[in-house]
Amino acid sequence: MVTPNTSSTALPLTRAPSSVNFQVACVGILAALAGLLFGLDIGVISGALPFIAATFRLGDVMQEWIVSSMMFGAALGAVGSGWLSFRLGRKKSLLLGAVLFVAGSALCALAWSANIMIAGRVVLGLAVGIASYTAPLYLSEIAPQRIRGAMISVYQLMITIGILVVYLSNTQLSASGNWRAMVGVVAVSAVLFLLGVLCLPDSPRWLVIRQRKAEARHVLQRLRGSDEQVEAELAEIESSLQVKQRGFQLFRENANFRRSVGLGLALQVMQQLTGINVIMYYAPRIFAEAGFHSTRDQMWCTVIVGLVNVLSTFIAIGFVDRWGRKPILYAGFFIMAAGMGAVAMMLGQTQLSVGEQYFTVAMLLLFILGFAMSAGPLIWVLCSEIQPLQGRDFGITCSTFTNWIANMIVGASFLSLLHGLGGAHTFWLYAGFNAAFIVVTRYFIPETRGVSLEQIEGKLMAGKALVDIGR
Ligand code: BGC
Repeated sequence: MVTPNTSSTALPLTRAPSSVNFQVACVGILAALAGLLFGLDIGVISGALPFIAATFRLGDVMQEWIVSSMMFGAALGAVGSGWLSFRLGRKKSLLLGAVLFVAGSALCALAWSANIMIAGRVVLGLAVGIASYTAPLYLSEIAPQRIRGAMISVYQLMITIGILVVYLSNTQLSASGNWRAMVGVVAVSAVLFLLGVLCLPDSPRWLVIRQRKAEARHVLQRLRGSDEQVEAELAEIESSLQVKQRGFQLFRENANFRRSVGLGLALQVMQQLTGINVIMYYAPRIFAEAGFHSTRDQMWCTVIVGLVNVLSTFIAIGFVDRWGRKPILYAGFFIMAAGMGAVAMMLGQTQLSVGEQYFTVAMLLLFILGFAMSAGPLIWVLCSEIQPLQGRDFGITCSTFTNWIANMIVGASFLSLLHGLGGAHTFWLYAGFNAAFIVVTRYFIPETRGVSLEQIEGKLMAGKALVDIGR
């Protein structure tokens, strides 16, 4: 997910709305549905994969392709969506995303061979890539400034809710082993999203960019109510557009900008190397490794993973602006390293007692808690805060693209690692990464809490060390 262009203050994740206009709420919910679809697509494969593998008699490599083809599409979608959302506008980009969601999920549900399934997953990926860039951008542009942070958080939350919902529906459908129905659930949600997007207004900011100020005023009148507010916001949009985006040129000319782009890429690689998606995509398989042999048990454990993922996201929302980014990241990486290490220790044993099996599940949940309260949301927040205004679109496109590529590499290598290294060593590897990220956080990640984006930009461009561009 990409956190969008913001104006002068650090993202206020916790700021609550005083009164939210009904229209804004509807528009926000509709756009946040893109997050739900994002989550559905991430989560659906974990439950469906064992059945798909059985139907098409697939080995590990082909299964990895089915999982990771979506990330490949998403990386392409994320790269193309900066251009699309500028040319077509945010609404039409979302519409295109919605059509691709419907087409991709229908193709997956009807797939008659593994290759068709992979093609369907690439199309779905394109949709997720477009939605993961455009929806938060759109949300930030239609949200009144005082609730912008809250709206972006809702989008984050929707991703985790989407994952949970699809884990639940997978669990219900697993008795019959009907993977086509599992994937079909995504198709139905995609149709609802498509209908919803048709009712969305265009983003006022985009309309101003395209010299359609009268239409922008009309949309703002519907969303804001007071004429004074509408005119103030139009003026603000116009003044912020004075800063021309010249991302690639800036990247070539300015070494300081290259440093912030590099930090954005590193942050996203770190987020993926925590190992979160190993669990998101392969949870039932991991529970099988831990000795849960019935499909039902594996699926219910997976549902609990989804639930912990949703609930722990509230910790980040509640504390990020109070404690700051770095303390939460330290705690998160520490918890993740401990969780992964404990799972590795358990998987190293030949036979687990029932008590040890439950301990393994508890440790996986601890890992999920560590991720969802820290690196899950915070990496996105940081990625949006560290880029200078002139290069924000470019910087965020690069980091979002990296997220999907790293996601793909993790998804595409897990089963091979499991076979090559064994469960214990694979999980030790991820535990090691998380421990190393505590050190990376100490020496490279800035604390951006309560610092304005202008201050961050000023320090970055003055050549300060990355760790010092915040407070
Ligand atoms: C990550 C995704 C992950 C999701 C899990 C997001 O922040 O970018 O890769 O699947 O969190 O909740």
